Amino acid sequence: MDKFIIQGGYRLHGNIAVRGAKNHALKVFAASVLTDQPMTVDNVPEIEDIFRLAEILTDIGATIRHPRHGHYTISTAGIHTTHLPKNLVPRLRAAIVLTGPLLARFHSVVFPHPGGCAIGRRPIDIFIAGFKTMGARFQERNGVYRFQAPHGLHGGRFVFPKVSVTATETLMQAAVLADGTTELVNVAREPEILVLANYLNSQGAQIHGAGTSELTITGVAALRAGQCTIMPDRIETVSFIVLALASNSRLTIIDCDPTTIEVPLQLLRASGAKFTVHKNSLTVHPWKKLKPMVVATEEYPGFPTDGQSPLTVLLTQIPGSNEVVETIYGDRLFYTDMLNRMGAHIVMHTPQHVIIHGGTALRGKQVESPDLRAGIAMVIAACIAQGKSEIGNVYQIDRGYEAIDRRLRSIGVHIRRVSN
Ligand code: EPU
Repeated sequence: MDKFIIQGGYRLHGNIAVRGAKNHALKVFAASVLTDQPMTVDNVPEIEDIFRLAEILTDIGATIRHPRHGHYTISTAGIHTTHLPKNLVPRLRAAIVLTGPLLARFHSVVFPHPGGCAIGRRPIDIFIAGFKTMGARFQERNGVYRFQAPHGLHGGRFVFPKVSVTATETLMQAAVLADGTTELVNVAREPEILVLANYLNSQGAQIHGAGTSELTITGVAALRAGQCTIMPDRIETVSFIVLALASNSRLTIIDCDPTTIEVPLQLLRASGAKFTVHKNSLTVHPWKKLKPMVVATEEYPGFPTDGQSPLTVLLTQIPGSNEVVETIYGDRLFYTDMLNRMGAHIVMHTPQHVIIHGGTALRGKQVESPDLRAGIAMVIAACIAQGKSEIGNVYQIDRGYEAIDRRLRSIGVHIRRVSN
């Protein structure tokens, strides 16, 4: 496993470009299964989760070409099985999104429990209930799930008991080829869902209401070939903003979409942060004083759970009592232990509620990257810490941030990758 060695304490400067959104690209790759016509995708981030999903698609018979950086063509005309590989699916949560298109086009799918970051309970009960409403039969044996709809899926009305991003994207895709009209109520409103729906509609799907909490999807017989450009990654944008503020640097973040991070910007502005915002770029200005913050994560458009761990690193630098409440996942605050080892003063009231007594200097330490977002938080902490840090298990960071070491070096971070 690779590790990062970071010499912290330097001011950063210059421009850093945001890559395509992981959580958009993964769902577009899954959507390639809905049609035997080819798809081309641009601005795909070159990250491990994309490589894993491409391996899964290839394993079941898809042909993927990757002629240049960020550009992929995918044809799923050759799919020969609906059994997803047991060794790969447990490595990423997004693999579950394949179940919607497979069930819709081939009327069956067999798969093990999908993996992903260890950040709390990630059940699939909403997927099961949703597919059942659309006429699928469900079986589980020895940890392997099987959905079958011998006569194809049909429309129906399904009210989500809890807002779920991937369940929304999966059931929406399943409904695209179902017989009749499907109403999905209390769905997620993330911008990645809106752009996914727009893309599917450009192929002939009939999805209405994306971006709101209610979707109406009229099934169609088939989809056409498609061309899609992946939207900028809003979580990467938030991560870079936090890096700039935590290191008190002037940094310009380019190729981003500030309209997708209005709540994080609003919260940071209320604390005293200053930004110059343009259509596709944003400059973060150095600060003299920031006020303590109280932040609770929420579904979009609220403050994203994926931005919570980077933000907490900034909060260690704001004097006073800061608070973070993590409402989405049960185990997503345990990395704060590592920040404490680096010199932070964070008190865990409950596993989902921490008080950060900010204004403490951080010191370089040897830490691990427990999951993707806590991993980038460790990188940000190491960038502002005095002395040398070593961050292990950087595969977790490579899952979602493209060549982060190279890109951070270009703005002045003293970081190197050591391969074992
Ligand atoms: N949930 C259920 N039952 C289900 C599905 C979800 O109870 O069948 C619960 C989960 O346990 C959780 C809540 O619903 O408490 C929300 O989970 P959601 O399903 O929305 O999460 P996800 O779709 O699995 C996506 C992103 C995550 C991001 C969340 C929330 C992808 C591949 N993953 O996960 O991204 O944190 O939405 O915004 O899109 C990341 O990129 O680092 C990441 C973890």
